[in-house]
Amino acid sequence: MPRVFVTRPIPEAGLKLLYEAFGDEVLVSPNDWPIEREELLRNVVGVEGLLPILTDMIDDQVLEAAGPQLRVVANYAVGYNNVDVDAATRRGIVVTNTPGVLTETTADMAWTLLMAAARRVTESERYLRAGRWKSWGPQLFLGVDIHGQTLGIFGMGRIGHAMAKRARGFDMRVIYHDQIRLDPEREAEMGVSYVDKAALLAESDFISIHCPLLPETTHAFGPAEFACMKPTAVLVNTARGPIVDEAALAEALKSGRLFAAGLDVYEREPEIHPALIECENVVLVPHLGSATRATRARMAEMAALNLVAVLQGRQAPNCVNPKAIADCRL
Ligand code: DGY
Repeated sequence: MPRVFVTRPIPEAGLKLLYEAFGDEVLVSPNDWPIEREELLRNVVGVEGLLPILTDMIDDQVLEAAGPQLRVVANYAVGYNNVDVDAATRRGIVVTNTPGVLTETTADMAWTLLMAAARRVTESERYLRAGRWKSWGPQLFLGVDIHGQTLGIFGMGRIGHAMAKRARGFDMRVIYHDQIRLDPEREAEMGVSYVDKAALLAESDFISIHCPLLPETTHAFGPAEFACMKPTAVLVNTARGPIVDEAALAEALKSGRLFAAGLDVYEREPEIHPALIECENVVLVPHLGSATRATRARMAEMAALNLVAVLQGRQAPNCVNPKAIADCRL
């Protein structure tokens, strides 16, 4: 029976599938915090299936430590920038992710951050809880309108599409920028228009980031970009932290160069740039994009099904390196 290691307890729905398939050969790290590097390197030795979460760096050293019998790394996340896919591919290891199941939930969070930042929800709640609210005021915590404004989507993948859908209900104009343009029928159907990055920055009242983290998207939003945005604009990031230069964002928020921001992800999680913590006009949540009971359970099931499929000699439903490993069959 193949041995499997899960780096942190995941919802029962996924663990059940693993136990059904591999029984006592499944080892789940018992601690509900990120596994220490040394512990990870120790526990992967001899496993055929590894199920990490997005904070575990699965690099060549981990794959080497596991040994040549390792066949699948089933990441518990849609993003897989924590896995060295090239190194896995060189070793013939299938890498899988959990796309689709968290699309709507993550778009819900992006929309929550957009609204909370625009209407100063967390800032005014802090004021109220501190006992500072003395009366209704004509100028108290004035925000910016959402309805009828322009939403700029940076990265028109699944979550970008889900954001565009939500924007319709708010009568918004939706523009987007991506490396790949949708075909005109799809654009018309979605009610979105393609623009270059400069136009996205200049015309958007809200920019929501939905691209993957790649070398070319690292710090895609920095001082130069903030200088081109409207001073009334709101930036939302639920994708990956390093896409935004946090120091530059804090500076833009403090100086009034940008109206507000909503962040779910950070450059060096779980550290938050101290200058951001000082900003009242940023809504900060701890990487909760996919954090609903139903979605996390579906992600667990999906990661487990991917892992079981490979170890049982079937095609992994969500393989991210299929070209290198013919058909994901081992
Ligand atoms: C993912 O799956 O990549 C998300 O960031 C989890 O919330």
